[in-house]
Amino acid sequence: MILMRFMKLLFVLLFLVFQAAAARAEDGYRLWLRYDLISNAAQRASYAGKLNFIANEYEYPGTAAAEEEVVRALKGLLGKEVKRVKKAEQGKKGIVFRLNAQEEGISEEGFKLNDQGGNILITGKTAAGVLYGSFELLRKIQTGQKIEGITMASSPKIALRLLNHWDNHNGTIERGYAGQSLWKWYELPERIDTRYIDYARANASIGINGTVVNNVNASARFLTGEYIGKVKALADVFRPYGIKVYMSVNFASPRLIGGLKTADPLDEQVRTFWKNKVKEIYTEIPDFGGFLVKANSEGEPGPMDYNRTHADGANMLAEALKPYKGIVMWRSFVYAADPKGDRFKAAYNEFKPFDGQFAENVIIQVKNGPIDFMPREPISPLFGALEKTPVSMEFQLTQEYLGWATHWVFEAPLFKECLDTDTHVKGKGSTVSKVLDGSVYPYRLTSMVGVANTGSDRNWTGHPMAQANWYALGRLAWDHGITSSEIADEWVRMSLTSNTPAVESVKKLMLQSREVYVKYTSPMGLHHLMGEGHHFGPEPWLVKAPRPDWTALYYHRADSSGIGFDRTKGGSDALGQYAEGLRKVYEDPEKCPLPFLMWFHHLSWDHRLSSGRTVWEEIVNSYYTGAEEVLKMEEAWQKVKTDIDPEVHANVAARFRTQYKEAVWWRDACVLYFAQQSRKEIPSGYPLPTRTLEEVKKLVEVYHVR
Ligand code: GCU
Repeated sequence: MILMRFMKLLFVLLFLVFQAAAARAEDGYRLWLRYDLISNAAQRASYAGKLNFIANEYEYPGTAAAEEEVVRALKGLLGKEVKRVKKAEQGKKGIVFRLNAQEEGISEEGFKLNDQGGNILITGKTAAGVLYGSFELLRKIQTGQKIEGITMASSPKIALRLLNHWDNHNGTIERGYAGQSLWKWYELPERIDTRYIDYARANASIGINGTVVNNVNASARFLTGEYIGKVKALADVFRPYGIKVYMSVNFASPRLIGGLKTADPLDEQVRTFWKNKVKEIYTEIPDFGGFLVKANSEGEPGPMDYNRTHADGANMLAEALKPYKGIVMWRSFVYAADPKGDRFKAAYNEFKPFDGQFAENVIIQVKNGPIDFMPREPISPLFGALEKTPVSMEFQLTQEYLGWATHWVFEAPLFKECLDTDTHVKGKGSTVSKVLDGSVYPYRLTSMVGVANTGSDRNWTGHPMAQANWYALGRLAWDHGITSSEIADEWVRMSLTSNTPAVESVKKLMLQSREVYVKYTSPMGLHHLMGEGHHFGPEPWLVKAPRPDWTALYYHRADSSGIGFDRTKGGSDALGQYAEGLRKVYEDPEKCPLPFLMWFHHLSWDHRLSSGRTVWEEIVNSYYTGAEEVLKMEEAWQKVKTDIDPEVHANVAARFRTQYKEAVWWRDACVLYFAQQSRKEIPSGYPLPTRTLEEVKKLVEVYHVR
């Protein structure tokens, strides 16, 4: 009997312990908005003393989302219900919302945070400003900063800060590695998944104010009444969070769903089709943002099918959108399959001649590099080349060429490397970020977008650390001046741990992660060495593909005499597309920074580099040290185990195992293949791969990526 009771008690106790553990387990869903109780009691009490109420005197329209977020966050962080009041309470301290359209020193979406007699005043010109100010205040509390005496003003440097979802109507995501689409099209518009709200909150917290909901390889279906209704349902959810919806459109829609025989942009019936379609959209979604267009690129239809130009196509859509203040984001990702040409030069050649010919509500959306989101690219020569046509930045958050969801790559350093590059178009200091924000040329529109890495996985991004890339995009679009280290610091403190030594360790891992990835996949400016089609793993031996510029050989040009793509005057002269100041950085092989060398020069394997090694030795060294560094990163991750939630820690630790395996795959593949091309031995001191090149070539089947 006693034993029975004891067993029962034990069972109950075990159950409770299990429940508590389950409640604590972090599955990553809450992203950087975890709002867990601040563990330092003194710090918590100090904030609590200053945050007793939230006063929203005039119940400003549109500020409900901000108010709810603050109440929710403080409940979690401080463990107390913060009172919602109309007027600031006398004798107590709290938060006061102020909406003043005439406020000076901030832009439409900007905000001010001011300590006014002990109360924290959040001022915005618009509800969006108050929302962003609220999130800034919460970020300060989440990261343990002082709020007493606070005085700051902040306005976004870029006006359009967008995510681009490459999501299809059937729920798949092009290049998505975190599950299926977030949008449950089959349930919309009737059922609103609460996840849409959390998506909007996360975006608003980092200043993202627009989302293109569907793939650039667009199905015309999105323009049917049925789908417009579904997109409207999303727009209604996102609106309170300052987020507008946009759609990718299929240029052939007049033919595909409009019953017309043509999609010629100069045809009157086609123009009428678009005008009617736009009217239909705005009737449902009055603040619809506009269209994103991939035209005459990788087989997509476009104006050139009718011997018209990009400007003809973009301007036709712009005319339809103009009465509603909608915009056209026309992508510059175009290239022709020419075995003798250089894909690097294609976008510039196609768009530069049209500078000044685009309507005022058109912006040209340019990928950060001239090829396609490689682990490292020099900047696209279009940045700074278009004076009269605004240019937008397209970064890729989803890790298409960055190891999908098994490799930890913090992308902020990649973004910053590009943003900080000096185009020299208007002398020294004309950085890409200054081109984008309209300070080099007075652009009418400014924009920065990230191709989303979100999906239906519970933690949104597959690899838990990939959340930081979404976070980084938003923060940099708001202020391109912040550093990768600052972004990492904020994100770690909000998402993982507030224990400073652990924060420092994780930050270090984040900041080195991209360089490590480059080392074991594409060192010294080698590019496009990945597997065909799926873009995963190594395939440097790829010499035949549906297009010559989809092979690896087209880019590395390795043979017994040397390696690299000569883009100097003697070669393709792609360097000629840069302004002189930037050209000079790369043009001389003796001075060109090693990370970019193979982008611009074809050199003999024995060419001696500034590192003291030959080209061959440097390449080998990089592949080996890169793979080894993954092991070191893994070790460092083990050391923070007690500071990170066990579920998240174990998740990342397991992914490190895979990452290492795949890093060695890359290393063996590239070292063995280039050894064959160069007819060189792997220098002594490096362990020889334990498999042959032929064996490594078969691994693509083992990894099930094809
Ligand atoms: C890459 C990617 C495609 C995508 C394209 C684009 O080529 O592999 O899936 O459609 O970029 O940006 O349009």
